Amino acid sequence: MDDSVLPSKLLNHLSKAADIVRSHDYIQVYSHYDADGITAASIIAKALLREGKEFRVTLFTTLNDPNMEIIRNTPAECIVISDLGASYIRELDAMDRDIVVLDHHTIVDKAERICYANPHLYGIDGMTSGCGATMAFLFAITLSEKNWDLVQVAFGGIAGDRQHINGILGLNVYLLEEGVKRGLVEVMDGSLIPYGDLSSALFMSTDPYIRGVSGCEEGVTKLLDDAGIAHNKHYKDLTDEEKRKLTSLIAVKLVQQGVSQQTLNEVSRQRYFLRDWNMDAEALASLMNGCGRLGLNGVGVGLGMGDRDCCSKAMELETVSKRQIMDGVLMLEKNGLKQRENFQWFDSSQSGFTGIVCGIAMNFIGVPSKPTIGINTSESLAKISSRGTWDQLDRGVDLSVAMRLSCESVGGNGGGHKIASGGSFESSRLEEFLDCLDKILGAQISAT
Ligand code: C5P
Ligand code: ZN
Repeated sequence: MDDSVLPSKLLNHLSKAADIVRSHDYIQVYSHYDADGITAASIIAKALLREGKEFRVTLFTTLNDPNMEIIRNTPAECIVISDLGASYIRELDAMDRDIVVLDHHTIVDKAERICYANPHLYGIDGMTSGCGATMAFLFAITLSEKNWDLVQVAFGGIAGDRQHINGILGLNVYLLEEGVKRGLVEVMDGSLIPYGDLSSALFMSTDPYIRGVSGCEEGVTKLLDDAGIAHNKHYKDLTDEEKRKLTSLIAVKLVQQGVSQQTLNEVSRQRYFLRDWNMDAEALASLMNGCGRLGLNGVGVGLGMGDRDCCSKAMELETVSKRQIMDGVLMLEKNGLKQRENFQWFDSSQSGFTGIVCGIAMNFIGVPSKPTIGINTSESLAKISSRGTWDQLDRGVDLSVAMRLSCESVGGNGGGHKIASGGSFESSRLEEFLDCLDKILGAQISAT
């Protein structure tokens, strides 16, 4: 294998991981509850099932001290952690167990004893070029070549973590090239027009979120009438002329709404059709997200493992979660974002779905120049999500560092990626947190 595609150090880590897992009969898998984490867990679970291993899968909303305590008390000799772990490597290294970590978050420490695979360790950007599902999939094909079909599931994770947004990069290129060659994945053109039956797809559209159209029946009717398109049409039945007309009407609306050119380009990204799933990678990611956010982790993992009943259940759940997300976005648009000098923020305590709404707010509602923060203080432990843009990163913003430092300054913890990070701390310390975050982001921007 060409070292520039799959670095030999990564291959060493993966074969060490496979040897560790092969030497045990029972494996505990811990993963994250978002689309990437569920996908990663499903890939590992399916690979373990095919190896004839017994296993148990547990998903965490985040890795924090209480969840580390759960890991410490795990009644298993072998633990595999995916899409989590980077921020607790030192603690995991100190545990007396066989541990494999397959993560892609920003590196804080290197491991000495446990087996730790992370794109960042091989000079590959884990934010854009390999996610939890990528790492889980590479581990699965190291265990056995018969796991290649799971590349389709991995694309659900890649889409879930938005690694495909500016084109497929790094480790994911290997997955795409091989996936296409094996007839499992097909590249499709993207569009500003949401896919599906147009009336409902436009009504439920949050990517793009079109002000006055998304969540608004009269707006959808007017847009389709202006484009001269029958209301009952499906995206795939549009003529080229109808597509052009509707695309330009949507583009005008988004530009008037203040959406950046970068975001417009991102919305029109290529899509990846998954043969055995008969849906594109983003649709699979959305199903996974729906399960995770509604707390039905078993359904999500079952879906990723290819269980038909779980797939039907996930489709039902998705309708509910999409409606809740739309309601959260409409409420946010009505209430507006609160402005600080170096970021904009909103309270998601009522709406939930903090990370997802935060991403939509960053691209389609707030000012594009400032990072967007969503804060849910409905429980004693506040949950924070932050989202940035490439332009902000060019100006020095690093949300992974900003979240970690500002959450730690109020006794909590946080981390993630430069462009998308999260954290938690005691809700009562909200004001202190906001002040600290403003200072840290200000310092990051002025240092460049
Ligand atoms: O929760 P949210 O979707 O906003 O998280 C954004 C990113 O930050 C995710 O990749 C998540 O894994 C990461 N994160 C983290 N540590 C936390 C919270 C989130 O690394 N305490
Ligand atoms: Zn991830």
